[in-house]
Amino acid sequence: MFGWRNNQSQAANATPATPEPVRFGPYELGEQIGRGGAGFVFVAKHTETGEIVAIKTLRQHAAHDEQFDRRFMREMAILQKINHPHLLKYLDCGIDERGAYIVTEYIPRGTLSHVLQKHSMLPGSTVLQYAAQLARALDYLHTRAIVHRDIKPANIFLTNDHQIKLGDFGLALDSTKASLTVSGMTVGSVMYMSPEQIRGSKATSSSDLYSLGCVIYEMLYGVPPFKTSNPYGIMEMHLESDLRFPDERLVRKDASTDEARILIQELMQKSPESRPESARKVYERLTKLRPETTGETP
Ligand SMILES: Nc1ncnc2c1ncn2[C@@H]1O[C@H](COP(=O)(O)OP(=O)(O)O)[C@@H](O)[C@H]1O
Ligand SMILES: [Mg+2]
Repeated sequence: MFGWRNNQSQAANATPATPEPVRFGPYELGEQIGRGGAGFVFVAKHTETGEIVAIKTLRQHAAHDEQFDRRFMREMAILQKINHPHLLKYLDCGIDERGAYIVTEYIPRGTLSHVLQKHSMLPGSTVLQYAAQLARALDYLHTRAIVHRDIKPANIFLTNDHQIKLGDFGLALDSTKASLTVSGMTVGSVMYMSPEQIRGSKATSSSDLYSLGCVIYEMLYGVPPFKTSNPYGIMEMHLESDLRFPDERLVRKDASTDEARILIQELMQKSPESRPESARKVYERLTKLRPETTGETP
């Protein structure tokens, strides 16, 4: 898996050269596992400790683009100050001649997006269990004045023992740092974006709750709440359309399905004032409803 790049300059009849490992600082890159706006994500190995990690690199051309550069630095700054069982664990960062990189724990199972591609929809009890863990992660961030702004299945990781790890802080906004405030700019993925973000207003903790509602919807029903062929249509639906639920017969119905549906309705209110007061309230409510949804037990 490691040391996959061959030495291109070898003569045709020479003995094959030992593959030349690609390194970022002390990390040897393995397989590419992701690709995002600003760079690539690889599985990598620490050359001394042997630890297997995930490494996110800033693409060379992106490093010269102020917006990507700022996004990368913002992610680094936020990751360094957070530590929670339901947030992707930050390990290291650095800059070498190849560019900047961020190192986090590696989650072999991948993201909720991968899981939904495979299973399409999840049973209500699992949905509520994941929702509780996400609400806990959001409560941790929001009480530290951090708004994630990009809650979506591709940024939510799942371990083999069913623990949620929220990741990708590239768009997260730390309200305690005034210079990084971006206003009047629409960021995030339209499929999971709150009406106020679409309007270009500042995203608040309540905007993350709306996106959480969209993610819970997709976990339960296998499709995002609003879908049309173009992003503007989706934006319009977030702003104007009533929420609809698929036919009950098409759902993996269990004792928790109705509770999950009520929660979605509350979280996806168009007006932030009508949504639950905080991620903590959502978490507490889920815990009361169903003690096993605290996330402590898989
Ligand atoms: N720690 C990790 N473990 C496993 N896969 C990862 C990890 N970090 C990122 N990935 C994969 O790479 C993709 C992009 O990573 P992400 O942090 O969301 O970057 P971007 O800011 O470019 O969206 C993820 O959706 C996931 O598939
Ligand atoms: Mg992402």
